Amino acid sequence: MSKYTRIVGTGSCLPPRRVSNHDMTTLLAARGLDTSDEWIVSRSGISARHFADDGVLSSDLGATAARHAIDMAGLKPDDIDLIIVATSTPDFLGGFPSTACVVQRKLGITNDCAALDVQAVCSGFVYAMSVADNFIRCGMHKRVLVIGAEVFSRILDFNDRTTCVLFGDGAGAVVLAASDEPGVLATRLHADGRHADILCVPGAVQGGAIAGSAFLYMDGQAVFKLAVSVLEKVANEVLQIAGMEASQIDWLIPHQANIRIMQGTAKKLGLPMEKMVVTVDQHGNTSAASIPLALDVAMRDGRIKAGQHIMLEAVGGGFTWGAVLARI
Ligand code: UT7
Repeated sequence: MSKYTRIVGTGSCLPPRRVSNHDMTTLLAARGLDTSDEWIVSRSGISARHFADDGVLSSDLGATAARHAIDMAGLKPDDIDLIIVATSTPDFLGGFPSTACVVQRKLGITNDCAALDVQAVCSGFVYAMSVADNFIRCGMHKRVLVIGAEVFSRILDFNDRTTCVLFGDGAGAVVLAASDEPGVLATRLHADGRHADILCVPGAVQGGAIAGSAFLYMDGQAVFKLAVSVLEKVANEVLQIAGMEASQIDWLIPHQANIRIMQGTAKKLGLPMEKMVVTVDQHGNTSAASIPLALDVAMRDGRIKAGQHIMLEAVGGGFTWGAVLARI
């Protein structure tokens, strides 16, 4: 049985259609709503996001990101023995069948490997990493594909300016492999269902139709307050488990929801902004995809180097939150 889980490949995929704040301002103006680049940047740090064209699904973005990660790992799709997809925008209603099964088909994997979706909204990737790490360390799987993939534009209400300017589409992926070298050093997950209502898609399927709203609802200020307090705590928890200090973190890769939350967490951990990977300005909030997207950007531009320590941390609907501390 291997002692550790290592990240051996990363990949990402953004749909080509880039939508700037100026584009959003024009789109909302056509609906009689007022917004501005100044408001969006100052409140969230977002300048642009990408939207998938009609017909492009989470599995399409996820499969492309996965191919890049599998290539970087020097593997073939059939070497993968477990696929986990974190998504809140699955291909099929209710995630039935799972987006992971669709990704398996799109990658041409025919080795009967297990495939499952994980639902923890914006914390989904961190949750999926922890699930994969535990499967690997218990010896059940050896090469796991973990994907965060979203087409959040499908659940945005473009008549609600408080939410539609914040989110985007995309996917990121990692290949995790069993190893005797560290690796993932610690993971920690939490949830508090008492706050389920502050960030949700409140509709349900009834009699073959949607009862209620199929659009994302968010009480931004309530989410903001909870996020700031739990992120620092969970980051310190994984540091403690690994016996490390915050000063030993080379790269903080937080969920990319709002630059002010990200700055607040870095400050509380005593980390300078230069140690944080920021993509929220160009990607917006891509929910479960935001961390693996940011990780892949910083791996491929050479910022993250072998032997360095990375901290991934996220907060999202549920309410869920978690962190992963790993050595590259
Ligand atoms: O991914 C899961 C985690 N999600 C998050 O972390 C999101 C957490 N929350 C946030 O990031 C912030 O709360 C927001 C970015 C959503 C909002 O920022 P805020 O500083 O909390 O703004 P606010 O909600 O207090 O709104 C301030 C004003 C309001 O006007 P009044 O009532 O003061 O007159 C809003 O109506 O800004 C108005 N406003 C807008 N103005 C222009 C709201 N949306 C817009 C908009 N353009 N798009």
